[in-house]
Amino acid sequence: MSHPQDGPALAELEDMARRAGAVLRERYGLRHTITHKGSVDLVTEADRRSEELILGAIRERYPSHSILSEERGDLPGEGDGCWFVDPLDGTLNYAHALPFFAVSIAYASGSRVRLGVIYDPLRDECFAAERGRGAWLNGQPIHVSAVSELRESLLVTGFPNEPSEIVAQNLRYYERFQRQTQGVRRLGSAALDLAYVACGRLDGFWEIRLNAWDVAAGGLLVEEAGGRATRLSGEPDYLRPPCSILAAGPALHAVMLSILREE
Ligand code: IPD
Ligand code: CA
Ligand code: CA
Repeated sequence: MSHPQDGPALAELEDMARRAGAVLRERYGLRHTITHKGSVDLVTEADRRSEELILGAIRERYPSHSILSEERGDLPGEGDGCWFVDPLDGTLNYAHALPFFAVSIAYASGSRVRLGVIYDPLRDECFAAERGRGAWLNGQPIHVSAVSELRESLLVTGFPNEPSEIVAQNLRYYERFQRQTQGVRRLGSAALDLAYVACGRLDGFWEIRLNAWDVAAGGLLVEEAGGRATRLSGEPDYLRPPCSILAAGPALHAVMLSILREE
């Protein structure tokens, strides 16, 4: 399937993500100007610079499109095109100079995500997907793992930055999976977690209470890499707020869903 009429091509998203990633790379490890959105929820000057670059590029080429971007919020447009932008996913890692973070950009039209790119600037890894055409890492096709049993799987999850009742709920899920799998990781970037599921480095990911900008590109990557992405309830609309997501190869997805449904 070619890109939607009047919409962007995948290469344009890749170009934006690579340029924004270069901004993050240049500032990585420097002392940051940190502001707090909540007690733990940080934003650095690098988040804002990366976001300015991406939003500037979208606005210049597609002024009628709407944009949902983490730091600038909801920027309504008139057309059908809609962008989901996380200019720095893994801000807490970044602020600690922990090398696991990414830029995430997705484009939707007709209420469906069509294009998604996640770029890891330190490893120069660009994960990209186009609905109906496939998913790639630096241009090479990628696939979710074929692992179908928990005891052969390595999973990943995440927790909300701010303290909430979700933490206790997710710790219960964490314990269930930790007991039955090879391990559960908590790496600190939902976008990269999903990209790693898409390319088979990790077998499954779940997280409760995310935002659409965290998962729009990564969800498409997993689907186009042959996996399934749903809400934790199993419903398909994982972008509906408050977002939750369960992503894995189809067989493991069914097994993980049954574990999450246990009382
Ligand atoms: C966060 C990361 C983290 C996830 C949090 C997100 P941010 O995004 O994706 O892995 O567990 O829920 O908020 O704030 O670094 O863009
Ligand atoms: Ca994020
Ligand atoms: Ca972010």
